[in-house]
Amino acid sequence: AKSGYDHYMLKEIHEQPRALRKCLRGRVDELTGAVDVEALDGLNPSSVQFVACGTSYHAALHGASALREAGVHAQAFLASEYATAPAPVTDDTLVVGITQSGETADTLSALREARKRGVETLAMTNVVGSTAARECDRALFIRAGPEIGVAATKTFSSQVVAANLLSASLAPQSDAREVVEALRDLPGQVQEVLDSSRAERVAEQFLDSEGYFFVGRGYHHPVALEGALKLKEITYKHAEGFPAGELKHGPLALVTEETPVFALVTGNGTEATKTVGNVKEVEARDAPVVTVTDGVSDVERYADAVLEIPETHPRVAPVLANVQLQLVAYHVAKKLGRSIDKPRNLAKSVTVE
Ligand code: M6R
Repeated sequence: AKSGYDHYMLKEIHEQPRALRKCLRGRVDELTGAVDVEALDGLNPSSVQFVACGTSYHAALHGASALREAGVHAQAFLASEYATAPAPVTDDTLVVGITQSGETADTLSALREARKRGVETLAMTNVVGSTAARECDRALFIRAGPEIGVAATKTFSSQVVAANLLSASLAPQSDAREVVEALRDLPGQVQEVLDSSRAERVAEQFLDSEGYFFVGRGYHHPVALEGALKLKEITYKHAEGFPAGELKHGPLALVTEETPVFALVTGNGTEATKTVGNVKEVEARDAPVVTVTDGVSDVERYADAVLEIPETHPRVAPVLANVQLQLVAYHVAKKLGRSIDKPRNLAKSVTVE
């Protein structure tokens, strides 16, 4: 069943090009850049609230940013926090639950809360016939195929792509065509990363570290969180991810030569330049720097190791960057002899609140 791979997680990481092709199939017009997703027909919300947990929450953060960039009020909430002080809704608010399994209790209960408030709901899920898909008004299937490993990998990539489709469809941006073109090239680029990744070497290099930091700005912020979550989930090592700008507001006190900092930097816009500035601060404290980069900025000058990704659109780059971090987490866990597909204390779908 693992098709020759040692673990389901590695198999599922390698299934990403195929999963992404399936997610896109029939949903984009390559000539016009128009997005046509049946589940979204007739939707024109004035605001969007995402609810999700764990890795799916990181995809929700991406979706909210993409929608805001397109001029739609959008926020991402941790499902378990949604009901405490609910954000105001109007008649045309849309609540989107992102849940791979469609069975996560916290997410189901946030969606139920939304329905109680009379709001339209959409499930973005991998499982046709799941509770979320059945209970919501609409369902957008990410079509990643079954994911067995407890660590979410291919489903995150598919969720980010689906979130980009959602944003392009709800609020067509001037650059919609560029995003669509970038999405079309993405499966091939993911394959390139899989074929050339030096993540195993990096894992070996930093196996004995005390703790790991992940930093990224803008669209790389969710990936910084995701890189840390994956590492702690399957390696049991301490890892923390945060927006690069927050480093100097506290975490920098923990940065030493024993704590590698993974910095996500693509392009050479303002965000990249600022993150390179943060990288210099870290380097000055003798922390090893691993950068995940497309090589456009000069971040490599300050790095002890480089994980390369191809150039693409800023709303698509996080998927490629994240593949490198999935591989780092996998190889660290493997070298430490961890139970990769079934980490201690965790379940594939968390059906209690
Ligand atoms: O099935 P869901 O997407 O609702 O699951 C949400 C989280 O439990 C899940 O993403 C969890 O964080 C993963 N094990 C992370 O790899």
